[in-house]
Amino acid sequence: MAAKLSSWLDERFGWRGVWQAIFLRNIPKVNWLFTLGSATLFIALNQAITGILLTIYYVPTPDHAYDSVQFITTEVTAGWLIRGLHHWGASAMVIVTVLHMLRVILHGAYKFPREATWFTGVFLLIIVIGFGFTGYLLPWDQKAFWATIVGTRIAEVTPFIGETLLRIMRGGPELSAVTLARFFGVHVWFLPAALLTLVSVHLYLIIRIGISAPPKKED
Ligand code: HEM
Repeated sequence: MAAKLSSWLDERFGWRGVWQAIFLRNIPKVNWLFTLGSATLFIALNQAITGILLTIYYVPTPDHAYDSVQFITTEVTAGWLIRGLHHWGASAMVIVTVLHMLRVILHGAYKFPREATWFTGVFLLIIVIGFGFTGYLLPWDQKAFWATIVGTRIAEVTPFIGETLLRIMRGGPELSAVTLARFFGVHVWFLPAALLTLVSVHLYLIIRIGISAPPKKED
Protein backbone atom coordinates (compact mmCIF):
# COMPACT_ATOMS: atom_id res chain seq x y z
CA MET A 1 0.00 0.00 0.00
CA ALA A 2 2.77 2.42 1.05
CA ALA A 3 4.90 1.37 -1.98
CA LYS A 4 1.93 1.95 -4.30
CA LEU A 5 1.27 5.37 -2.83
CA SER A 6 4.95 6.34 -3.08
CA SER A 7 5.02 5.26 -6.77
CA TRP A 8 1.78 7.15 -7.44
CA LEU A 9 3.30 10.28 -5.90
CA ASP A 10 6.61 9.77 -7.74
CA GLU A 11 4.84 9.56 -11.10
CA ARG A 12 3.28 12.94 -10.40
CA PHE A 13 5.91 14.82 -8.37
CA GLY A 14 9.13 13.01 -9.35
CA TRP A 15 10.11 13.11 -5.67
CA ARG A 16 12.50 10.11 -5.92
CA GLY A 17 14.81 12.08 -8.21
CA VAL A 18 14.76 15.02 -5.77
CA TRP A 19 15.44 12.69 -2.81
CA GLN A 20 18.31 11.08 -4.73
CA ALA A 21 19.83 14.47 -5.64
CA ILE A 22 19.65 15.73 -2.05
CA PHE A 23 20.32 12.72 0.19
CA LEU A 24 21.90 10.01 -1.98
CA ARG A 25 24.45 12.11 -3.87
CA ASN A 26 28.13 11.17 -3.76
CA ILE A 27 30.30 13.25 -1.48
CA PRO A 28 34.08 13.21 -1.03
CA LYS A 29 35.70 11.90 2.16
CA VAL A 30 35.24 14.81 4.54
CA ASN A 31 35.73 15.50 8.27
CA TRP A 32 33.79 17.02 11.16
CA LEU A 33 34.54 20.58 10.02
CA PHE A 34 32.16 19.94 7.13
CA THR A 35 29.23 19.59 9.53
CA LEU A 36 29.37 23.29 10.50
CA GLY A 37 27.07 24.36 7.63
CA SER A 38 24.46 21.80 8.66
CA ALA A 39 24.89 22.85 12.30
CA THR A 40 24.13 26.45 11.25
CA LEU A 41 21.05 25.20 9.41
CA PHE A 42 19.92 23.30 12.52
CA ILE A 43 20.27 26.38 14.73
CA ALA A 44 18.40 28.46 12.13
CA LEU A 45 15.55 25.95 12.37
CA ASN A 46 15.62 26.22 16.18
CA GLN A 47 15.46 30.03 15.89
CA ALA A 48 12.51 29.84 13.48
CA ILE A 49 10.47 27.45 15.67
CA THR A 50 11.18 29.16 19.01
CA GLY A 51 10.78 32.61 17.39
CA ILE A 52 7.32 31.74 16.05
CA LEU A 53 6.34 30.42 19.50
CA LEU A 54 7.58 33.63 21.18
CA THR A 55 5.33 35.78 18.97
CA ILE A 56 2.28 34.10 20.52
CA TYR A 57 2.79 36.19 23.70
CA TYR A 58 5.28 38.90 22.75
CA VAL A 59 3.77 42.37 22.19
CA PRO A 60 5.94 44.84 20.20
CA THR A 61 4.89 48.11 21.88
CA PRO A 62 6.83 50.18 24.47
CA ASP A 63 3.95 49.73 26.95
CA HIS A 64 3.86 45.95 26.79
CA ALA A 65 7.11 44.59 25.31
CA TYR A 66 9.03 44.34 28.61
CA ASP A 67 6.06 42.93 30.55
CA SER A 68 5.22 40.43 27.82
CA VAL A 69 8.79 39.09 27.88
CA GLN A 70 8.66 38.81 31.69
CA PHE A 71 5.32 37.03 31.36
CA ILE A 72 6.78 34.56 28.86
CA THR A 73 9.75 33.85 31.15
CA THR A 74 7.85 33.45 34.42
CA GLU A 75 4.24 32.49 33.64
CA VAL A 76 3.91 30.73 30.28
CA THR A 77 4.38 26.94 30.32
CA ALA A 78 7.96 26.21 29.17
CA GLY A 79 8.21 29.90 28.19
CA TRP A 80 11.59 30.16 29.95
CA LEU A 81 12.80 27.23 27.84
CA ILE A 82 11.52 28.62 24.54
CA ARG A 83 13.01 32.05 25.30
CA GLY A 84 16.27 30.49 26.53
CA LEU A 85 16.60 28.41 23.37
CA HIS A 86 15.98 31.50 21.22
CA HIS A 87 18.31 33.72 23.30
CA TRP A 88 21.27 31.32 23.41
CA GLY A 89 20.51 30.05 19.91
CA ALA A 90 21.08 33.60 18.62
CA SER A 91 24.64 33.68 20.01
CA ALA A 92 25.29 30.11 18.85
CA MET A 93 24.08 31.03 15.36
CA VAL A 94 26.61 33.88 15.03
CA ILE A 95 29.47 31.76 16.41
CA VAL A 96 28.73 28.67 14.28
CA THR A 97 28.14 30.73 11.09
CA VAL A 98 31.54 32.41 11.55
CA LEU A 99 33.19 29.02 12.24
CA HIS A 100 31.57 27.63 9.07
CA MET A 101 32.93 30.61 7.12
CA LEU A 102 36.41 30.08 8.61
CA ARG A 103 36.28 26.43 7.52
CA VAL A 104 35.44 27.58 3.98
CA ILE A 105 38.37 30.04 4.04
CA LEU A 106 40.75 27.43 5.51
CA HIS A 107 39.94 24.93 2.74
CA GLY A 108 39.81 27.55 -0.02
CA ALA A 109 36.27 26.31 -0.75
CA TYR A 110 35.25 29.81 -1.96
CA LYS A 111 37.24 29.34 -5.21
CA PHE A 112 35.89 28.35 -8.65
CA PRO A 113 33.23 27.02 -9.09
CA ARG A 114 31.89 28.01 -5.66
CA GLU A 115 32.09 31.82 -5.83
CA ALA A 116 28.30 32.21 -5.92
CA THR A 117 27.97 29.90 -2.89
CA TRP A 118 30.45 32.19 -1.11
CA PHE A 119 28.58 35.38 -2.10
CA THR A 120 25.25 34.03 -0.89
CA GLY A 121 27.12 33.07 2.30
CA VAL A 122 28.38 36.64 2.79
CA PHE A 123 24.79 37.93 2.59
CA LEU A 124 23.69 35.18 4.98
CA LEU A 125 26.26 36.38 7.51
CA ILE A 126 24.94 39.96 7.19
CA ILE A 127 21.40 38.62 7.72
CA VAL A 128 22.48 36.66 10.82
CA ILE A 129 24.07 39.83 12.27
CA GLY A 130 20.89 41.75 11.35
CA PHE A 131 18.82 39.23 13.31
CA GLY A 132 21.05 39.75 16.35
CA PHE A 133 20.89 43.56 16.13
CA THR A 134 17.11 43.82 15.64
CA GLY A 135 16.32 41.05 18.16
CA TYR A 136 18.40 42.69 20.89
CA LEU A 137 15.98 45.63 21.15
CA LEU A 138 12.81 43.53 21.44
CA PRO A 139 12.89 42.84 25.26
CA TRP A 140 12.77 46.68 25.62
CA ASP A 141 14.80 46.70 28.84
CA GLN A 142 17.60 49.14 29.72
CA LYS A 143 20.28 47.00 28.07
CA ALA A 144 18.24 46.70 24.87
CA PHE A 145 17.41 50.42 24.75
CA TRP A 146 20.93 51.72 25.30
CA ALA A 147 22.59 49.11 23.09
CA THR A 148 20.32 50.24 20.25
CA ILE A 149 21.15 53.90 20.96
CA VAL A 150 24.83 52.95 20.59
CA GLY A 151 24.24 50.70 17.54
CA THR A 152 22.29 53.35 15.64
CA ARG A 153 24.90 56.01 16.59
CA ILE A 154 27.57 53.77 15.05
CA ALA A 155 25.52 53.72 11.83
CA GLU A 156 25.33 57.53 12.04
CA VAL A 157 29.10 57.93 11.54
CA THR A 158 28.84 56.35 8.05
CA PRO A 159 30.16 59.02 5.63
CA PHE A 160 27.48 61.04 3.72
CA ILE A 161 24.47 58.78 4.46
CA GLY A 162 25.00 58.35 8.21
CA GLU A 163 22.22 60.65 9.40
CA THR A 164 19.73 59.21 6.90
CA LEU A 165 20.66 55.71 8.05
CA LEU A 166 20.06 56.64 11.69
CA ARG A 167 16.66 58.13 10.86
CA ILE A 168 15.65 55.10 8.82
CA MET A 169 16.67 52.75 11.63
CA ARG A 170 15.02 54.76 14.41
CA GLY A 171 12.04 55.92 12.37
CA GLY A 172 12.82 59.49 13.54
CA PRO A 173 15.57 61.33 15.43
CA GLU A 174 15.02 59.41 18.71
CA LEU A 175 14.34 55.83 19.77
CA SER A 176 10.55 55.43 20.02
CA ALA A 177 7.57 53.12 19.51
CA VAL A 178 8.28 53.43 15.77
CA THR A 179 11.80 52.03 16.28
CA LEU A 180 10.45 49.03 18.18
CA ALA A 181 7.77 48.36 15.55
CA ARG A 182 10.36 48.73 12.79
CA PHE A 183 12.89 46.40 14.44
CA PHE A 184 10.15 43.86 15.14
CA GLY A 185 8.93 43.97 11.53
CA VAL A 186 12.45 43.53 10.16
CA HIS A 187 13.18 40.75 12.70
CA VAL A 188 10.08 38.64 12.02
CA TRP A 189 9.28 39.40 8.35
CA PHE A 190 12.03 40.91 6.27
CA LEU A 191 15.05 38.97 7.62
CA PRO A 192 13.34 35.53 7.77
CA ALA A 193 12.14 35.95 4.15
CA ALA A 194 15.65 36.99 3.06
CA LEU A 195 17.22 34.11 5.03
CA LEU A 196 14.85 31.54 3.54
CA THR A 197 15.50 32.78 0.01
CA LEU A 198 19.28 32.89 0.37
CA VAL A 199 19.56 29.57 2.24
CA SER A 200 17.55 27.96 -0.59
CA VAL A 201 19.98 29.35 -3.20
CA HIS A 202 22.99 28.41 -0.99
CA LEU A 203 21.79 24.81 -0.62
CA TYR A 204 20.78 24.54 -4.28
CA LEU A 205 24.32 25.54 -5.28
CA ILE A 206 25.87 23.07 -2.82
CA ILE A 207 23.75 20.24 -4.24
CA ARG A 208 24.27 21.31 -7.87
CA ILE A 209 28.05 21.81 -7.68
CA GLY A 210 28.78 19.24 -4.97
CA ILE A 211 30.81 19.77 -1.85
CA SER A 212 34.56 20.40 -2.21
CA ALA A 213 37.05 17.78 -1.04
CA PRO A 214 39.46 18.85 1.73
CA PRO A 215 42.62 20.13 -0.02
CA LYS A 216 45.61 17.75 -0.15
CA LYS A 217 49.14 18.73 0.90
CA GLU A 218 50.30 19.09 -2.72
CA ASP A 219 47.34 21.45 -3.57
C1 HEM B 1 22.73 30.94 7.64
C2 HEM B 1 23.98 30.72 7.36
C3 HEM B 1 24.52 29.54 6.57
C4 HEM B 1 23.98 28.29 6.36
C5 HEM B 1 22.67 27.72 6.90
C6 HEM B 1 24.92 27.55 5.53
C7 HEM B 1 24.77 26.22 5.15
C8 HEM B 1 25.73 25.49 4.44
C9 HEM B 1 25.75 24.05 4.27
C10 HEM B 1 24.71 23.07 4.87
C11 HEM B 1 26.83 23.74 3.53
C12 HEM B 1 27.32 22.33 3.11
C13 HEM B 1 28.12 21.68 4.26
C14 HEM B 1 29.36 22.46 4.70
O1 HEM B 1 30.21 22.78 3.87
O2 HEM B 1 29.42 22.76 5.89
C15 HEM B 1 27.49 24.98 3.18
C16 HEM B 1 28.59 25.10 2.34
C17 HEM B 1 29.19 26.29 1.96
N1 HEM B 1 28.98 27.53 2.56
FE1 HEM B 1 27.49 27.94 3.86
N2 HEM B 1 25.96 28.38 5.20
C18 HEM B 1 25.78 29.59 5.83
C19 HEM B 1 26.64 30.69 5.81
C20 HEM B 1 27.77 30.78 5.02
C21 HEM B 1 28.72 31.87 5.04
C22 HEM B 1 28.64 33.05 6.01
C23 HEM B 1 29.65 31.62 4.06
C24 HEM B 1 30.82 32.45 3.64
C25 HEM B 1 30.84 33.76 3.62
C26 HEM B 1 29.30 30.35 3.43
C27 HEM B 1 29.94 29.78 2.36
C28 HEM B 1 29.81 28.46 1.97
C29 HEM B 1 30.58 27.81 0.89
C30 HEM B 1 31.61 28.48 -0.04
C31 HEM B 1 30.19 26.46 0.90
C32 HEM B 1 30.70 25.34 -0.05
C33 HEM B 1 31.78 24.60 0.73
C34 HEM B 1 32.36 23.43 -0.03
O3 HEM B 1 31.88 23.08 -1.11
O4 HEM B 1 33.32 22.88 0.51
N3 HEM B 1 28.17 29.85 4.05
N4 HEM B 1 26.80 26.03 3.76
